[in-house]
Order: sequence, then C-alpha cells, then structure tokens
Amino acid sequence: MKILVTGGLGFIGSHTVVELQNVGYDVVIIDDLSNASEKVLDGITAITGKKPLFEKLNLRERNKVEDFFHRHNDIEGVIHFAASKAVGESVENPLLYYENNLSSLVYLLKELVKKKGASFIFSSSCTVYGQADAMPITENAPVKNAESPYGNTKQIGEEIISDTCKAHEELQAIALRYFNPVGAHESAEIGELPIGIPQNLVPFITQTAIGLRDQLSVFGDDYPTPDGTCIRDYIHVVDLAKAHVIALQRLLNKKNKQRYEVFNLGTGRGSSVLEVIKSFEHVSGEKLNYKITGRRPGDVISAYADTVKANEELGWKAELDLDEAMLSAWKWEQKIRS
Ligand SMILES: NC(=O)c1ccc[n+]([C@@H]2O[C@H](COP(=O)([O-])OP(=O)(O)OC[C@H]3O[C@@H](n4cnc5c(N)ncnc54)[C@H](O)[C@@H]3O)[C@@H](O)[C@H]2O)c1
Repeated sequence: MKILVTGGLGFIGSHTVVELQNVGYDVVIIDDLSNASEKVLDGITAITGKKPLFEKLNLRERNKVEDFFHRHNDIEGVIHFAASKAVGESVENPLLYYENNLSSLVYLLKELVKKKGASFIFSSSCTVYGQADAMPITENAPVKNAESPYGNTKQIGEEIISDTCKAHEELQAIALRYFNPVGAHESAEIGELPIGIPQNLVPFITQTAIGLRDQLSVFGDDYPTPDGTCIRDYIHVVDLAKAHVIALQRLLNKKNKQRYEVFNLGTGRGSSVLEVIKSFEHVSGEKLNYKITGRRPGDVISAYADTVKANEELGWKAELDLDEAMLSAWKWEQKIRS
C-alpha cells in the first residue's frame, strides 16, 4: 500500500517514514528541501534497509502537485507534514506562511477529493489552545486567538480540512495536535536539523553542550509554576511517529467515528525548563551553561496534554520518557558534529 508523506525529509516526517516502512508500507516522499537535506534519505535507508521513493517538489506549485497525483494514482493515504514552522519568521513574513502552509494544503486536498477514497493526516499543534484555562488540555478546550501567523495557519488548516470533509464524503481526515516533539531515532541516523539558531529548547541545549552556542537563556523564572519556569509536554519523536501510523490505520481500516477527528499527542506530563536541563545533565554527564533572563513575549505559562482520547480512542500511548528523549537528542548532536 502506497502512502505519500509530504515533508518526509524533515524532523517528524523522517521518523514517520521509518515507522511506516517498519510495518510494510511503501512510502513516497515529497519535500522541496527548504528545511531538509537529501542526505536524510540515507539515514532512513540505514535504519529500514529500504530507500523510500523521493520527489523534490514544491507543493505551492499546483500543476506539479496535479501531475504527481496523475503519476501516482495508487496513493491510498497522505500524511502532510510539509509546512514552514518558525514562529518568529511567520511574524515578520506572514504572507510566506499563509501561502506555503495553506496553498500546499488546498492543492493536496483538491487532488484527494478527486479520488474514490482518501485518508489524510494533518500536522497540527497544541498552539491552537494558546494559554488554556485548565490543565491537562483536552481536545474540547477552546481554540484561542492565534499568537502568530504560524499558529493561525494551523487553526485555518484544521478548518479547511473540516469543511472539506463535510462537503466531500470520500475524504476522511485526522488532525494531530502535537505538544513538544523532541529527541531523535535511537540509532542516531536521523534527528532534528535546525537551520540557524534553534527556536526550540532541546536543540538549543544540545548545541550549547557541544559548544556551538555559548549559553542557553531560560526565559523567566517568575512564572506561577513550582520552580518558576514554563511547563511543556515533551513528546519523543519516535512515539509521535508511531501515532501517525496508528492514526492512518484507523482511517484505512474505517475505524474512525467521524470523517474528521482531532487528537492530542503528548505524554500527559508537564516538565519545566529547569527539569529538562536537569534531565539533560543527568543523561549526558555534561554541565550546561545557562542563565535566567527575562520572560519572552508570547510564551504561555503551561501546556500539557490530556491523553485520555488518544489512549482510549486512538489506542496510542507515549512509551518513552524525557530522559530517553534527551539521551537520543544528545547522541544525535554528537554524531552530526563528529
Ligand atoms: N517540530 C515541532 O515542534 C512541531 C510542533 C507542532 C506541529 N509541527 C508541525 O509538524 C510538521 C512537521 O514539523 P517538523 O518539525 O518535522 O518540521 P521540518 O521543517 O523539519 O519538516 C517540514 C518539511 O517540509 C518541507 N517543506 C516545507 N514547505 C514545503 C513545500 N512547499 N513543499 C514541499 N516541502 C516543503 C521542508 O523542507 C521540511 O523538510 C509541520 O507542519 C509543523 O508545523 C511541528
């Protein structure tokens, strides 16, 4: 069975390709290499022993997307990761984000609704909840005004998919709202490859420890949390990748209850920034150079998932813990700098 993975050479996409191949799917990757390297294909192949098909294609080019689906008319499911994801850049260049994240989604859906039956998995984010009123965050928590154009593309993306499912009976879809994906494959063959200064905590930690950055700034220790630093739900990327396979199979096996469904993907455990640093120091044996600075505008205080729906309805549960994620991220950082 042939599955299309867009953005399949990126961080979460590459780990998902591995898990899809591990259970026997044929994978075709589309990626425009705007935030990935073709070398990731070698990492995937080293793990699975099978090189996935790859097409360098920009999903903003509608004719090329149409042509791709003509040539691959046997695709039965699509997992759509391709998007621009830098929050700060989206504030500076909103049109780039609306164009890239939304036109690519629309062009894909236009092809899928032409098919007899189509299963579609969308990368959404816990940013849709903003600062939720209650913890842990359930899927029923209200969607708050987006803090950035990037966050808005996830909210609008969900609405586009929901509307399209209502109008086209053949389409069924699941939006997966990720909390904070971290870590790398245990083989250290694939992992996160941030371009420039990392936006996320874990690659910033590992780059500081390896000597690429002088110091990590912890943005604020005066939040109303036990140690004063912000709390997030860090989910191992391999657990996250496995959830995509399970969500896809739910659609392919017609186990879904509605034609458009939403699930949170997190561990259900909140960790503070200082706890993440402690976990890193514990598993790596390194002392991290960090300092406490002022709060960063736009940061929510706390966000962690209620996992009941994902556990009971989807049948997926995170298995790896923060220490395992930090160790895998550290092994990956050491490998790419060696
Ligand atoms: N990493 C996170 O913290 C996080 C959290 C929540 C949601 N998400 C979402 O998950 C998805 C994957 O995230 P990631 O961390 O793996 O990002 P990533 O940047 O590593 O992967 C995205 C991939 O899409 C490709 N791409 C971008 N625009 C494209 C286009 N127009 N045509 C073809 N390819 C294109 C990039 O080259 C890249 O390889 C994204 O949609 C992101 O918004 C990520």
